[in-house]
Amino acid sequence: MAEPRTLTPDDAPLSGVAVVRVEQAGDGETIDRIVLEAFGPGRFAKTAERLREGASIAVGFVACLDGRVVGSVRLWRIRVGETPCLFLGPIAVERSERSEGLGAALVQACIDHARTTGAAGILLVGDAPYFGRFGFARIEGASLPGPVDPARLLWLPMLAETVAGPVMIG
Ligand SMILES: CC(C)(COP(=O)(O)OP(=O)(O)OC[C@H]1O[C@@H](n2cnc3c(N)ncnc32)[C@H](O)[C@@H]1OP(=O)(O)O)[C@@H](O)C(=O)NCCC(=O)NCCS
Repeated sequence: MAEPRTLTPDDAPLSGVAVVRVEQAGDGETIDRIVLEAFGPGRFAKTAERLREGASIAVGFVACLDGRVVGSVRLWRIRVGETPCLFLGPIAVERSERSEGLGAALVQACIDHARTTGAAGILLVGDAPYFGRFGFARIEGASLPGPVDPARLLWLPMLAETVAGPVMIG
């Protein structure tokens, strides 16, 4: 497979290659299906989902194969204590298209966006064995509005080395 690359919203869909582009209004239904298939309906009970319910999307990215959306990720505006930052998730790639680097390309698109917009850092709830490769590491002192496995609360520092306090919508 060709190396995924990030497109701007103005780029035309390409054929026969994998690309990551900014999420557009018409992608919503497909994203909902991919996320539901990956996590099941149980995800709505999760603390991360409670936080996202009231938050606004800073940006979303989709991964496309031959112009077909097969993966997605979103960044949400939050604050940890007094510090505005970004919350990543959910990230999902269709089962049949996994292990081809699309997940990594989606995470990298988020990181690039956060860096270019001068974010303090990115918070997420996820598996350290996956997100550690991008520089995410366990953070203590940030408290979400509900129970979270502390081993899965991860932070990628950018302008702020760390953050602490209650996690709220930004
Ligand atoms: C996580 C996910 C988005 C990765 O997408 P992807 O396109 O397969 O990602 P990549 O191709 O960049 O990386 C795949 C590698 O990560 C590994 N990996 C995937 N999920 C992992 C996890 N939760 N923990 C540790 N490693 C993981 C895969 O085993 C694979 O390893 P390999 O390259 O040695 O085969 C995808 O597996 C998915 O949609 N999972 C279900 C939803 C989910 O659990 N999302 C949140 C993860 S915390």
